[in-house]
Amino acid sequence: MESELGKIKVAIAGVGNCASALVQGVYYYRESNEQIGLAHPDVGGYKPGDIEFVAAFDVDRRKVGKDLSEAIFEKPNNTIRFQEVPKIGVTVKKGPVLDGVGRYLREVIRFSEDRDVDIVEELKSSGAEILINYLPVGSEKGSRFYAQSALEAGVAFINAMPTFIASSEEWQKKFEEKGLPIAGDDVMSQLGATVLHKTLIKLLVDRGVKVEESYQLNIGGDTDFLNMLEQQRLVSKRESKTSAVRAMSPYEMPLRIGPSDYIPFLENEKICYIWIKGKYFGGAPLSIDLKLSVIDSPNSAGVIIDALRGVKVALDRGISGPLISVSAYCFKHPPVQMPYEEAKRKFEEFIRGERER
Ligand SMILES: NC(=O)c1ccc[n+]([C@@H]2O[C@H](COP(=O)([O-])OP(=O)(O)OC[C@H]3O[C@@H](n4cnc5c(N)ncnc54)[C@H](O)[C@@H]3O)[C@@H](O)[C@H]2O)c1
Repeated sequence: MESELGKIKVAIAGVGNCASALVQGVYYYRESNEQIGLAHPDVGGYKPGDIEFVAAFDVDRRKVGKDLSEAIFEKPNNTIRFQEVPKIGVTVKKGPVLDGVGRYLREVIRFSEDRDVDIVEELKSSGAEILINYLPVGSEKGSRFYAQSALEAGVAFINAMPTFIASSEEWQKKFEEKGLPIAGDDVMSQLGATVLHKTLIKLLVDRGVKVEESYQLNIGGDTDFLNMLEQQRLVSKRESKTSAVRAMSPYEMPLRIGPSDYIPFLENEKICYIWIKGKYFGGAPLSIDLKLSVIDSPNSAGVIIDALRGVKVALDRGISGPLISVSAYCFKHPPVQMPYEEAKRKFEEFIRGERER
């Protein structure tokens, strides 16, 4: 599926599992008329096949120097392979490591010895319109570096991970001043733990149930989960996931939400356990005990494919600064939290041009 509107030129920072699923997905939907798996086959006239990758950055020597179509299948990536990708003609270039590789990732990442490229120059010369940040959780300096590079290169920014950039007033202002849109933070998977948990809490609150406590435990076997064994690095992930659920209730409740363990043989499968305890009519007790099993990276790509087209619509309309509805619909820690239904409605109103952001 491609439209007549032209391409959406995208650069990627961090060629890991999420990038792999996104690149595969663009070719999967471009080469067929398949619509299953897409929440929006069409966003403002743009189809998934309109996305074109023009630059990519990583630090692992198994990826740097390779065509993006090969790099996405290199170790330690371990998501599913659901689409063959032809040569793209984009070589993965070496970005600065900064704080991208934590204590546990050091054991599995093989550092490239190439010299760091000038990211701003690369973004400019590639013609990129949007840069997606897919760095590992806890890459605070790395994420700010890529956001700053996007600003200097005149490129819009999507922050798919939980360093708080799109939700920070300081960064919102910087993008607004440069006339560039920004969306984020921390992509909310298509059918993942966050959207399920927040929707359940909203339902219970709406139906007069007093929720007394809830937890959400997550396990997986990819580098994202390995990295999040480092407690200091996952503080932002915990806050991002918890804030999305917390915002669905008018009252405080004990919540414990976050990544819980790394189980290598799960590879890119992610398992989530949600527990909710509450009371309803006459104080009668209620509990929900739920297990969700998904492949993590296609789950994020199913949303980024909408976010990219939403940001492109903003670029076409000359809208700058934080994209409120795109972010609320596609991310866990947006500038403004909304229940899922409202976020989806506002996203679609924005796409139709019925709201400014
Ligand atoms: N469903 C999902 O998979 C999902 C949902 C929400 C958020 N996220 C977030 O998206 C991010 C990407 O997830 P992933 O599964 O692709 O992770 P990943 O570990 O597979 O990929 C991260 C990539 O970044 C590279 N990298 C590290 N430092 C770098 C630097 N300084 N410059 C350029 N590249 C660098 C690594 O080599 C690796 O290729 C993570 O922060 C994750 O938490 C994922």
